Amino acid sequence: MSIPSHILDQINAQADLVAIIGRHTTLKKAGREYKGCCPFHGEKSPSFYVNPQKNIYHCFGCGVGGNAISFLRDYENLTFKEAVNELSKQTGIEVPKEDQRAVKYQRSSAPAQPSHNRQVSTNRSASQGNTARAQQAHNGNSQPHTSQINQPIQSISAPSSQTIDPAANGYDDYPADYYIPDDSNISYDDWQGFAVQSYSNDFHPQAANETSGSQSNQSFAPRPPNQEGDLYELLTQIQQFYQRCLQQNAAAKQYFLSRGLSAKTLQTFSLGYAPAGWQHLEEQFPQDIEGLKALGLVRRSESGRDYDLLRDRVIFPIRDNQGRVIGFAGRALDDTVKPKYINSSDSPVFHKQHVLYGYYEARQQRANDWLVVEGYMDVIALYQAGIYGAVASMGTAINEAQISRLLTMNPTLTLCFDGDSAGQKAAWRTLELSMPILSDDKELRFLSLPDGHDPDTYVKAHSVEAMREQIANATPLSQYVFAYLSERYDLSLAEGKAKLMSQVRALTNKLPKGSSFRSLLNNDIYQKLGGRRAQTKAAHDALLNFDSTLTVNINLYLCLLYQPTILDNKPLGRLWQKSGVSELKIPEKLIDRIEQNGLQIPALPTWNDINDEHLATLVTTIEKLLPYLPTDTNAASHFIMANLPTELQTLLASQWQQFYRNMVARGVLDIEFLFEELITQLLYLTLKQQHRLSKNYLIKEIIKRRWSTLTDWQKRQEAEQAALINATPQASSNTAAH
Ligand code: UTP
Ligand code: MN
Repeated sequence: MSIPSHILDQINAQADLVAIIGRHTTLKKAGREYKGCCPFHGEKSPSFYVNPQKNIYHCFGCGVGGNAISFLRDYENLTFKEAVNELSKQTGIEVPKEDQRAVKYQRSSAPAQPSHNRQVSTNRSASQGNTARAQQAHNGNSQPHTSQINQPIQSISAPSSQTIDPAANGYDDYPADYYIPDDSNISYDDWQGFAVQSYSNDFHPQAANETSGSQSNQSFAPRPPNQEGDLYELLTQIQQFYQRCLQQNAAAKQYFLSRGLSAKTLQTFSLGYAPAGWQHLEEQFPQDIEGLKALGLVRRSESGRDYDLLRDRVIFPIRDNQGRVIGFAGRALDDTVKPKYINSSDSPVFHKQHVLYGYYEARQQRANDWLVVEGYMDVIALYQAGIYGAVASMGTAINEAQISRLLTMNPTLTLCFDGDSAGQKAAWRTLELSMPILSDDKELRFLSLPDGHDPDTYVKAHSVEAMREQIANATPLSQYVFAYLSERYDLSLAEGKAKLMSQVRALTNKLPKGSSFRSLLNNDIYQKLGGRRAQTKAAHDALLNFDSTLTVNINLYLCLLYQPTILDNKPLGRLWQKSGVSELKIPEKLIDRIEQNGLQIPALPTWNDINDEHLATLVTTIEKLLPYLPTDTNAASHFIMANLPTELQTLLASQWQQFYRNMVARGVLDIEFLFEELITQLLYLTLKQQHRLSKNYLIKEIIKRRWSTLTDWQKRQEAEQAALINATPQASSNTAAH
């Protein structure tokens, strides 16, 4: 059900884009536009522009751009629909309301008796819906009862061209919440079926109302108006009810107290308590039984009794990105009770795989350093300690879409898992599923706390500072991969090394195409395994792919900026030596003939011969500045850039930030291997060109020998590495697939 494009256009045009973006970065007027530091990619000098006439934004640094809807979606992390609704509120432009029907349900006209037994459950409001449901499930095309028409539409609506919410994809393949005991006959599948019905049979909200009117007229006296309930409103009321119950229950209050929560924290997270009774919600909300069932909070046992899902549990309301309550988790007060946590099931307003617990509260604190933790209590304990930005998934493994969202907000994301083997397996699984979204600018870090602590217990046993330090020292991905795998293979054996390497390659194959991290990670781990240099064909190709538009030359400039001290070691001369080109034996006969012809053996190519003016300039500039360079890499690079001709400066400035981030993020300290790789390629091309341009066949012969010595050396290096990497058949099949 897409929103007409002219309405979207209006919304985008009317939105106060400067104000919306101005909440996240300071914008200054620059001519007809506004300019500021890009909120998407941390930068120090402004390259982010907002054009209020066209109502669009664009960043010349990282390339993001779009309109008001895309900003809310990409930066404020709203779904497409949420963004549109938000802007609709701000601009007053109305969007068609069919969307809202999913959250409506039929209220019963008179307070219904709670269905204590089968007899009472024949009460219309409590059971007719179910009868209709059963019928409908049986013969798929019967006219659905209004109460089902009003049920979920959101969850199955076909993605329109505007529905770009990435999290919406894969909804169906997401594994069911494995903590929810499936003891209810109102399962998700049931109402999903109805949703399909209602979607195809009935499109317009008015139509639904008419149906509702005529049906109720047929069977009962006319109802008072306003019999439509809203799930969000019901959820709020339930949440307030649970909150009141907490105040009235000493044991529940004591429980939270014993876990160190302050009154303020109870308030911030609206924590509550669900009483022990089996039908407390029906008693409390007798008119809203349809709604309670749609939310999965009231279930029906096999014997036909309705009962509350959450009983005698402390309650954690789950909020969406806008702060609306959409579901609940309940924890047993006693650790012997199983399951420890029960989460309310997915519903028209609650889609677990989209939700991150603690996200809304974190955004209220303007948090932007995200930390994924395992439990609700971890989120809350960290928040109370002043560490904002901790979020948890809903009792299921965190998924790619959730990680992707967090990485859009901040390219660095820390994942905290329990130190036990289950926690470590979960961490590895998370790493695997994140690979396809780890573009070069994004970084995952891994944290597992010592002594079996989770963030909640750690922060209590130690201090906030200690916790902050743990987060700051989280392990970068490359180190984590190595640490994880090296525990699983015997690295004293060549075979163990090869197996590890093949695992690394299987992992890095999942990285996005053209990722330079692929070769960096392969190289890095190869180095850790004791390899002199890592130079597989794959690494070689990926390296050239750092960014498909970047040439080897530009990569080389960036390497020099990153590690200018490379020039301390006269790398060109060393390369000629290492490769054996400078020691090349030329037969006396050939030397004689060259001399007889009045010619000279040409000198080995230097920086100036590489036929790249920029490179020569850069090398000279760096060599001159070397004694004065600040130790900080970024500062040094800017110092160097400031001393370059404008054209080169501009060229480098546009690439530097991302390259730098990438390197730092991966914990790449030494890029000598990368540098050597690149320079070898350029020297090879230089020799080839010299060969082509040379008129004399004797000189040609010399150059040809040099060039083949260089390539032979390069091949030997490759072979050496390949021998290690491909030591097992398993590994070689990986190579073939690469
Ligand atoms: P843990 O079992 O690791 O517990 O569950 P915890 O978070 O440390 O809980 P406390 O500190 O004992 O209260 C981690 C998360 O897994 C989900 C919940 O989301 C929980 O926060 N979980 C766990 C369930 O959904 N059901 C369970 O029975 C247990
Ligand atoms: Mn815990």
